[in-house]
Amino acid sequence: MAGLIPQQFIDELLSRADVVEVIGARLALKRAGSNYQALCPFHTEKTPSFTVSPSKQFYHCFGCGAHGTALHFLMEYDRLEFPEAVETLASMVGLEVPREARQDQTPQTRGLHEVLSAAERTYRKWLRTHPDRERAVDYLRKRGLSGEIAARFGIGFAPPGWDNLLKAIGKPENRSQLLQAGMLAEKDGRQYDRFRDRIMFPIRDRRGRIVAFGGRVLDNGEPKYLNSPETPVFHKGRELYGLYECLQAERHPADILVVEGYMDVVALAQHGFPNAVATLGTATTTQHVERLFQTTRNVVFCFDGDRAGRQAAWRALENALPAMRDERQARFLFLPDGEDPDSLVRADPDRFRRLLDEAPPLSEFLFQELARSEDLRTMDSRARLTERAAPLLGKVPPGVLRDLMLDELARVARVDRRHVDAAVAGKSPAPPEQPRTGKLAGRPQRRTTVRVAVALLLQRPALAAHALPPAMICRLHLPGADLLAQLIEFLREEPHLSTSALLERFRGSEHEGALWKLATWDHLVPEDGLEREFVDAMAQLEILLARQRLQYLQQRLEQGVLTPEEHQEWLALLQAKRSEHG
Ligand code: UTP
Ligand code: MN
Repeated sequence: MAGLIPQQFIDELLSRADVVEVIGARLALKRAGSNYQALCPFHTEKTPSFTVSPSKQFYHCFGCGAHGTALHFLMEYDRLEFPEAVETLASMVGLEVPREARQDQTPQTRGLHEVLSAAERTYRKWLRTHPDRERAVDYLRKRGLSGEIAARFGIGFAPPGWDNLLKAIGKPENRSQLLQAGMLAEKDGRQYDRFRDRIMFPIRDRRGRIVAFGGRVLDNGEPKYLNSPETPVFHKGRELYGLYECLQAERHPADILVVEGYMDVVALAQHGFPNAVATLGTATTTQHVERLFQTTRNVVFCFDGDRAGRQAAWRALENALPAMRDERQARFLFLPDGEDPDSLVRADPDRFRRLLDEAPPLSEFLFQELARSEDLRTMDSRARLTERAAPLLGKVPPGVLRDLMLDELARVARVDRRHVDAAVAGKSPAPPEQPRTGKLAGRPQRRTTVRVAVALLLQRPALAAHALPPAMICRLHLPGADLLAQLIEFLREEPHLSTSALLERFRGSEHEGALWKLATWDHLVPEDGLEREFVDAMAQLEILLARQRLQYLQQRLEQGVLTPEEHQEWLALLQAKRSEHG
C-alpha cells in the first residue's frame, strides 16, 4: 500500500518528525555524545548497543543490526502496518495524510461498504416488519435480549427464501458488489442470498462501517453460525466483533474482554459488560491483540475450561506474546464446565465479575501449562521445560515483563539465569565475564573511496552539489560505483532530501543493507570538514577514473587499434599522471 501514499508526503513527514522523540516515548534513551543510546528492544542485551542519531534521524543497533527511520521504528516496535505507521507519525506532527492515498477509500471498497450497509438496514427492517419476523423475535426474546441492545448491535433478520436480499437491493448495478462483499453466492451461473432464515449480526470495523455479517440459525440447523467470507473489506484475522460498539460505550476502556461468540458479546453488553469483543470463529491473532492493546492496557481472554478451550487459550497466548510490552497486561479466565459468558452473566453477573477479577495473568497460565506436562523433580524434565519455554519467552519484547518471566523460568526449572538467557538467544551460555564487543553485525566494511563518498552523501545529502556527473562515476570499475551514481542522480533531482528520506527510498533495494551500514559510519571529521572530505573523495575518484582509462587505452595501443583521437587522449592522460607524481 506504500505506493498509494505520495512519496513527497513521506519525505515531508520524516523531515518534520523527530526520531528521538518517537523512540524516547517508548524506550529509556540516554545521551551518549551526539547520539542517544538504549538497550536494544529487538534483541536481548545487557549493555546498550542501540543508537539513535538525531542528526541522521535514524536508529541502528550495533548488536543485532536492526535499523530504520522513525517510521520503521513504529512498524517494528508498535507492530504497525506501513499506512498505520504513517498515520501515527502524521498525527504526532500534526499532518494530515493525503486523502486519496488512503487504502480504505478506493472506489471499489467504497462500493462494498455501501452495499453492506444497505444489507444491514434491510435486515434490521425485516426484523421489525417482515411477515416471518415472529420466529426471529421470539428467538431473541427467549435468549433474553432487549430491543435496546438488539438495536445497539444492529441485529437483524434474513427471512427464509433464496432471493429476499437479491430482490430488495440487488439492482443489476449492485450485483457484482454484493457478490464481492459475500452477500450473494453463485452456483451454475445463478446468484442467490448467502444468508437465509438467520438472525443477522453485522460486523463493523473500527470506524463503524459494516464489513461483514454473522448469521445464526433459529433452530438446530447447520452450520450454527454462517460468516461472511474474506473480502477486500473483511479480514477475519484483523476484525473483532463488538470492538466498535465497545468503543462507542467508552472511548478508553480500562479493560477489554475477549470471548468466543457473538451472543456472548451481546449478552455481556446487556448485563453491564459493554467491553467485550469476539474473534470471528478464528484463533486470536497477534494483529487482534495489537489492535486491542492500542485501545486498552488490560485484555482478559475468556475461554471454556475444557480441553478445546485450553488449546484455544494456548494459541491466543502464543499470539499475544509478541504484543506484551511492559505497560500491557493480559489475563486468562477459564469458565466453569458447560458455561459460556452468555449463560454465566445471565445467571449471575456478580459471579462473572468475581471470576473476571480472579483471572490469572498470562505468565501464570504460561508456566502452569508448561509445568503441567513435566515432572519437575527430574533434571531431564526441567531441561525440557527450559527448552520449550525459551522460544516462547523469546517472543516477548525486551522489558520488565520479559525479564521477570525469564527469572521465573530460571526459578521453576532451577537453572542459572544465564542458561535461560542463552536458551532464549538460541546459544550455549557465554562465560559470565566475557566482554561484549560493540561491533557492527556482519563483516566490517573497508573504507574505500567509493564507500566514503556514499557515506558522506548519506550524512549530508546536499554534498551532491559537489559530485562528479553520475555518468562518469558509472564508468568506474569499482564495487559500489553504481550505487554512488544512483545516489547522486537521486539527489540532483531532489536536492533537499533528508538522510532518513533518502534511506527510505532505498528500502527493499539490493543496496539497502550496504547503505544502512554506511549511514552509521563515523567520519571522525568535524561538521565543517565534511565538504572538504567529499571534494577530496571526488578528486580521488577522478584520478582513479583517469588511471582506468589510461590502462584501457594502453591495452588498445598494444593491440594496435588505437584511433588518432584516442592517441591524443592517451598522451594527455599520461602527462597528467606524470605531473601528479612529481
Ligand atoms: P459456539 O458454538 O460456542 O456458540 O461458537 P455460541 O457463541 O455459544 O453460540 P450460541 O450461544 O449457541 O448462539 C462460538 C463462536 O464460534 C463461531 C461463531 O463466531 C460463534 O459465535 N462459530 C460457531 C462459527 O463461526 N460457526 C459455527 O458453526 C459455530
Ligand atoms: Mn452460547
